[in-house]
Order: sequence, then structure tokens, then C-alpha cells
Amino acid sequence: MTVREALNWAKNALSAVSGEDAFVDARELVSFAAGKRVRGAGDTEELTEAQKKTLESAVNRRLAHEPLQHILGEWDFMGLTFIVSPDVLIPRQDTETLAEEAERLIAERGYRTLLDICTGSGCIGISLQKRTGIRTALSDISPAALEIARRNAENLGADCEIVQSDLFSAFGGRKFDLITANPPYIPTETVKTLSEEVKKEPLLALDGGADGLCIYRRIAKGYGAFLNEGGALLMEIGFDQGKSVPALFEGARGAEIKLIKDISGNDRVVSITLL
Ligand SMILES: C[S@@+](CC[C@H](N)C(=O)[O-])C[C@H]1O[C@@H](n2cnc3c(N)ncnc32)[C@H](O)[C@@H]1O
Repeated sequence: MTVREALNWAKNALSAVSGEDAFVDARELVSFAAGKRVRGAGDTEELTEAQKKTLESAVNRRLAHEPLQHILGEWDFMGLTFIVSPDVLIPRQDTETLAEEAERLIAERGYRTLLDICTGSGCIGISLQKRTGIRTALSDISPAALEIARRNAENLGADCEIVQSDLFSAFGGRKFDLITANPPYIPTETVKTLSEEVKKEPLLALDGGADGLCIYRRIAKGYGAFLNEGGALLMEIGFDQGKSVPALFEGARGAEIKLIKDISGNDRVVSITLL
């Protein structure tokens, strides 16, 4: 079987689960099996027997609704490749909006310390540490997620402190210039309606309580004690939370609240900057 034949076979097989993405998924899985980036239909190189077996097993896993990223074991975020596993949320392109805004603020305001809570794979904190050199702490309530974050920081050569914590509970007495958070924000009932693939991601990373706002309420109560003067809190939100999340932070004295859209035009980030 040539790469070209493998692409056609995988694309047809995957159309049932991957729909419009069948060719993209096929190319990723054939590349994974071949151990190199395959270019497309012009590639007539023969796959070995072992590569064919790897491809068959990968396609079968995808047909059982395993997310592509879990099969590949890695995914890209802000130009870096992160290890992913079922213990962490798969890094999303939407979240790059938060990372880009954080990078802009770090440069504009000369921030020197960052706390990335709800860090999961560590994609936000690690990419900011690598891109700006900021002193960074990554924290999560899940030890299994933190182990993936630790491996990502090590693989990518990012110098990060790793702290297990229920939001700010382990940070008593410490303050940071910037706090970033992509907390779980999907209402409990909505989680039940998500695709088979998304349901294979950790519930702890998705379920934001009855109205999706439980963690934001706790952040709103607590964040002030952990921010330096002139510091900022950046949070990712769901596309329909552009009013409900800022409302939780209104009344914070001396703070500017800003809403930032993602590249699809959806409300995506709430920025709270202390003046
Ligand atoms: C939506 S995921 C975000 C992961 C990563 N920051 C990203 O953007 O891809 C949310 C993360 O919050 C963590 N989490 C949930 N409840 C938490 C809590 N009370 N304290 C700290 N982390 C929590 C979950 O374990 C999960 O890793």
C-alpha cells in the first residue's frame, strides 16, 4: 500500500466519524503511522507492514470516537507541540486569544510574574514563559494533569514552578503581576450533550457547575489578594458568557473590565486590569 492509497483508504473509512475533517484526520494518522509528514496524493512511497498495522489500529481507535489528538499523543498551541492525554483538555485554538492578549500585556506593562491556574497541559503558562521569559507558576487541582504539564515544561525547556492547588488555596501570601485562567465553564446539563470525542476529555476540565459559572464566582471572590498593584487577570469564557462573567467582577474598585473576541468573532476573554 502506498501513502497515496493509504490516504484514500483512511479518508473513506473516517468519513463516518470525521465528516468534513476526514481528509485532515487521514493525513494526520497516515503521517503518524509513517513517522513523517506525508504530503498528499503525490506521495507514492510504500508503507511497511508495521506502518500499515499502526495505521489500521489508529483508524480503528478514531472510529471508536477517540479524539485525533489522543491518538497522536500531542497537539500544537502557540507554535509549540504539547503532549496531550485523556488527563488534560486538548489545547484549543480559541485559547490562543487569551495567550496572545497575555503576551501583549506582559510586553506593554512589563509584567514579571505569572500564575496560570487551571493549567491542564500547561499550554498557556508554558507558551508565555517560552515567548516572554516571565517567571511562571503552573497550577491545577488534578495531580494527573500537573504531571502532563511538568513533562511539557521539561520537553519544551520552560522554567516553571508546578503547584497542586484548588484555585488559589496553595498560594497564601503570594502575589503575581498576571493571573491567567481557562477554567471549566460548561453547564453540567450541557456537558451531557457534547460529542463522544469531547466527552473523552476530563469532566473536571469541562464541568463548570449548574450554570457554568461556579469557578468564575470563586475566582471573583479570591483573585484580588493574589494580584500585585497594576496587575491583571485574564480568563477564557464560553461564547455565550460575555455578559454573565463580567457581571461577577463589576464593582471591583479600580479595575478596568474588557471583553475580547476570538478570531471567529465570539466573546472569548475577559480581562480585568487593576489601574
Ligand atoms: C478547561 S481546562 C483548561 C486547561 C488548559 N489551561 C487549557 O487552556 O487548555 C480546565 C482545568 O481546570 C482544572 N480545574 C478544575 N477545577 C479546578 C479547581 N478547583 N482548582 C484548580 N484547577 C481546577 C482542571 O483539572 C483542568 O485541567
